[in-house]
Amino acid sequence: MDQPQKAREHWASGFGFVLAAAGSAIGLGNIWKFPYITGENGGGAFVLVYLLCIVVIGLPVMLCEITLGRHTQRSPVGAFKKLSPESSTVAHLIGAGMVMTALFLLVFGRYGWAALAALVGLTVFRYGWVVVGAMGVLAGFTILSFYSVVAGWTVGYVVKAALGQLAFADSSAAGDAFGQFIASPAWAVGCHLVFMALCVLIVYNGVQKGIERWSKILMPLLFLLLVVLIVRAVTLPGAGAGIRFFLSPDFSKLTGEGVLKALGHAFFSLSLGMGAMITYGSYVDKEENIFLASLTVTVLDTLVALMAGLAIFPAVFAMGFQPTQGPGLIFQVLPTVFHRMTWGPFWATLFFLLVVIAALTSGISLLEVVTAYFVDERNWSRKTATVVFGGVIFLLGGLCAVSVSDWQALPGLHRLLLTVFGNVEDSLFDLLDNVASNWLLPLGGMLISIFVGWIWGTRKAIVEIRHGSQNFADVHVISLMAGLKDDESHNSAVHVLTLASLWGIFIRFISPVAVLIAFLHAINWLDFKPRKAPSPPPPSEQQQEAR
Ligand code: PHE
Repeated sequence: MDQPQKAREHWASGFGFVLAAAGSAIGLGNIWKFPYITGENGGGAFVLVYLLCIVVIGLPVMLCEITLGRHTQRSPVGAFKKLSPESSTVAHLIGAGMVMTALFLLVFGRYGWAALAALVGLTVFRYGWVVVGAMGVLAGFTILSFYSVVAGWTVGYVVKAALGQLAFADSSAAGDAFGQFIASPAWAVGCHLVFMALCVLIVYNGVQKGIERWSKILMPLLFLLLVVLIVRAVTLPGAGAGIRFFLSPDFSKLTGEGVLKALGHAFFSLSLGMGAMITYGSYVDKEENIFLASLTVTVLDTLVALMAGLAIFPAVFAMGFQPTQGPGLIFQVLPTVFHRMTWGPFWATLFFLLVVIAALTSGISLLEVVTAYFVDERNWSRKTATVVFGGVIFLLGGLCAVSVSDWQALPGLHRLLLTVFGNVEDSLFDLLDNVASNWLLPLGGMLISIFVGWIWGTRKAIVEIRHGSQNFADVHVISLMAGLKDDESHNSAVHVLTLASLWGIFIRFISPVAVLIAFLHAINWLDFKPRKAPSPPPPSEQQQEAR
């Protein structure tokens, strides 16, 4: 076993930390998930809501997490343990509230949900805020289980691209090939194994050196390649419809569920709500400007998501695909685009390779959360923890891989969940994704900001933030916008509107309330507008051509 007292490993440089955090944020969420959920949720309006969530909720919560991590020098569970008061009335109230909800659900015959709410409520009552950290570890398991399956597909597509097997002339050929690929257990599970093995290998050796160095080379390369892809996609005949779909908002296509998904995705894409940034923050030095780091990571992540959308939607429409295909979208669309480029197989190989790398830098941060818990709190050695939980996640992910399109491979589990909860998603894959992204992460993020804003307190938090960002946190927003940041008279105490005070307001009021509203809206407790008829199906190929 490791000695817990050992000096904690830190990032080699501040730049290295920003890159590693950006590496965690930028991943399949940006390149694979964002385009397909935008496609399923109507395009431009969804993108706008997503951007709003990033600014209003994501950025402030990102700063909360990094601050918590750096201050406590602990992974999530330890961080909450260290800062939680002996007994917290707020936690008791939340716990009691959940038990009451359980009773309510019982009355309505929702036994499975009632049991779940009662269990969570009692745990919260007993353990208080530490539960938020534990929820993060749980989310780490859940997310990595399906994440590594998709990452496995990209591994497989690298091989296929290199062998020249992705030369599809049209969408139906590409669609069929993808369907066969994911339905073949040898490919799906094999590639998932390769990806998990890579994650384990990196985390096993400590993240710092390898990841810091590789991120510096590979992230810019991914960026460049996306630019090339955008140029190719927007110059394809018929690309205009895609650009319109992505960039011009049509609010009639937005649903309550879409809003929740946009919110959930903001958390997912920024790696928030489950302590990944707390963990990474715990390896940060006091000199680092974490205000600026949070901003940089958020901006980079958003930029890459928007670029991915610009590379993909024009191609989707130009190639006659529907944007509503779900998780297979990029795997079916991009090969047909590459096929129309000179050196197609080369670009395809390079692209999927970079996606693998982007996924890897995120995957390791998920595994790191789980590992760091067992290392920090349970005194396991890093090596044992990584191998054991890498294995557990591989098995769970394996189930996911074989039940990707439906529950056929796992009828027993399906029946059990149906009996307990009344209804479940179409597949284990969807279930894990939905539970983690739409519920665990936003809930975790909301609780983290309430904790920092009200329990630990913004006053203590800002003392931590000021280390390394003195001139930043206390910049007066009005003076900054007016270009008078360094003007003596503008830096007097009368100006209370600083970045720090803005942040405080956001995490105390705006972010938690916004998440709560999105939740209530999603479960139809708060219905803003009258129910609409279901939106018409997206335009067919003929309609697009007619335009
Ligand atoms: N942010 C990563 C992505 O966009 C996924 C992730 C979520 C990583 C949560 C860590 C924690 O791909």
